[in-house]
Amino acid sequence: MTFAAYVFDAYGTLFDVHAAARKHADRAGPDYRMFSEIWRAKQLEYSWVRALMGRYQDFWSLTEQALDYALARVETVDKGLRQDLLDAYWKLDFYPEVPKVLKQLKAQGTKVAILSNGSPAMLQAAVENSKLDTVIDDIFSVDLLKTYKTAPPVYELVTTNYRLYPDAVSFQSSNRWDVAGATTFGFRTVWINRLKMPDEYSDCMPSLILPTLDGLA
Ligand code: LAC
Repeated sequence: MTFAAYVFDAYGTLFDVHAAARKHADRAGPDYRMFSEIWRAKQLEYSWVRALMGRYQDFWSLTEQALDYALARVETVDKGLRQDLLDAYWKLDFYPEVPKVLKQLKAQGTKVAILSNGSPAMLQAAVENSKLDTVIDDIFSVDLLKTYKTAPPVYELVTTNYRLYPDAVSFQSSNRWDVAGATTFGFRTVWINRLKMPDEYSDCMPSLILPTLDGLA
């Protein structure tokens, strides 16, 4: 089965959201993993709440607000790390198999794109820093619509721009809630279950579950 486009979620799927805290783990101290989890969880919560309220602020702003919350909540983390953590977020590590798999897909003649909550500037920086700009055809950001996943118009950005039916698009995300949204929209979906999480959203199942992107191409 081939698809006209392979579209990827960015954070957690291509780029490791916990790389920023890990990079500064020595200074962040023993609670850095919990701290990073709270930072990520709040960033996502803010996206859903703002989408529902219709009060959009871009993902960079939510990332900063979530970091401030995590710093206030986990008192063992040095507040002086704030700027270093934010700087690291612009240059997150990609997961090791990412360049190889994206190149293989592109060699098969399909479109390779990102569809993300990230602001255009954040996504551009992450892609350029990781030198993935040569393999990624397009970066679709929710910023155009001023809402967030899992609003159906977000997934529609891809089908409108590529003039494709949803089932011609294979969408990959490590975020199970994002897979639920993309499945509901009609994409073929692949859940990249990197962290071996239990399944959820049983009425919005992915077509395929993989531990990493290996096996996609
Ligand atoms: C994204 C977040 C949800 O890249 O990971 O859209």
